[in-house]
Amino acid sequence: MTTKHKIMILPGDGIGREVTDAALRLIHWLADHRNVDFEIQHGLIGGASVDVHGTPLTDETLSDAFECDAILFGAAGAPQYDHLPFENKPERGLLRLRKELDLFANLRPAITFPSLIDASTLKPDFITGLDILILRENTGGVYFAEPRGTKILSSGEKTAFDTNLYSSSEIKRIGQLAFALARQRQNKVTSVDKANVMYSGVLWREEMTELYEKEGQGLAMEHMYADNCAMQLVRNPKQFDVIVMDNLFGDILSDCAAMLTGSLGMLPSASLGHPDTNGRYRKALYEPVHGSAPDITGKGLANPLAQILSLAMMLRYSLDRKADARLIETAIDTVLKRGYRTVDIMSHGCHKTTTAGMVDALIDALNHLTHQT
Ligand code: NAI
Ligand code: MG
Repeated sequence: MTTKHKIMILPGDGIGREVTDAALRLIHWLADHRNVDFEIQHGLIGGASVDVHGTPLTDETLSDAFECDAILFGAAGAPQYDHLPFENKPERGLLRLRKELDLFANLRPAITFPSLIDASTLKPDFITGLDILILRENTGGVYFAEPRGTKILSSGEKTAFDTNLYSSSEIKRIGQLAFALARQRQNKVTSVDKANVMYSGVLWREEMTELYEKEGQGLAMEHMYADNCAMQLVRNPKQFDVIVMDNLFGDILSDCAAMLTGSLGMLPSASLGHPDTNGRYRKALYEPVHGSAPDITGKGLANPLAQILSLAMMLRYSLDRKADARLIETAIDTVLKRGYRTVDIMSHGCHKTTTAGMVDALIDALNHLTHQT
């Protein structure tokens, strides 16, 4: 019996369209070869939606998003929208989607593929076998909390302000997810804050400590200041397993972790809401960490692997297709070992290929892998 999975594809802007097209080819391959049925719904988000509807996310697209099993998103934003008012900017569509679906957790794995060790700026010893998971609080904190805005003082001086507000329950739910994920991995959690200088950091640390006392059996947990974490990520990244932090620190430190693996073009992510009673994440959005890359849009240069690894995460966390997720990851490892490289991860002696060329190589690898079994 085949199960039907309803997937929404939101390509967005720039290379978002190119890399979601690439992932779609793999979805078709899975449908043809792996006894799985997909119902695909396409939608507009970001600048692509602004062009047609005048807003980066329509209520219709949002209500469609609530109906599907998972969302595959590309990227939003492009220079031609930079002049738009803040609320209409392409990126606001994504923020609204995350907020409305209550996708409070953002997972960003940083894993080095053995054949890409040379693409990192760090020495091989420090990153060989690296496998860390950054867990970022995604719907609270300084990107959302009120009050925020600008104000002109009576002196005529301009001011601007944001609020880094967190509640106990927001911290607790992301902490619980960090514990659950660590239990599937190396049983270690690093909780990051700035409790030395921020009230929100003090609460973060108190809540995480209390949670650990109540629910942390079998796990090791340490607290670390965010600035120290930035340093430790480049000094000795393999000390980490799961690192959990607020929205702002997560945004910055996950990009730092990204570069450990060499290229933004290799980094997938998942944004998850609450799991259902079967432990499956039905409210979930999967996307590459990179943006719309206007500098390479339309040139066939985009590395599709971050998007395809995001698809693998979808198969694992939302669709309960772990074997298919592993199959895709193995195929990626195979093509990298065979020397296929898009420009962003190109190194001496490898075959330079395009977005489509990389997908061709992956499909070839998948065909071989499945014939062997
Ligand atoms: P970016 O991630 O789009 O690009 C940074 C650099 O990495 C560029 O040189 C780009 O060519 C390269 N790059 C990124 N992805 C690549 C891939 N798959 N293959 C090969 N090279 C790749 O970040 P940037 O330039 O800061 O932002 C560009 C636009 O994207 C802006 O409008 C920004 O707001 C938006 N953006 C959207 C995000 C999202 O939708 N989640 C995340 C980050 C930025
Ligand atoms: Mg960022």
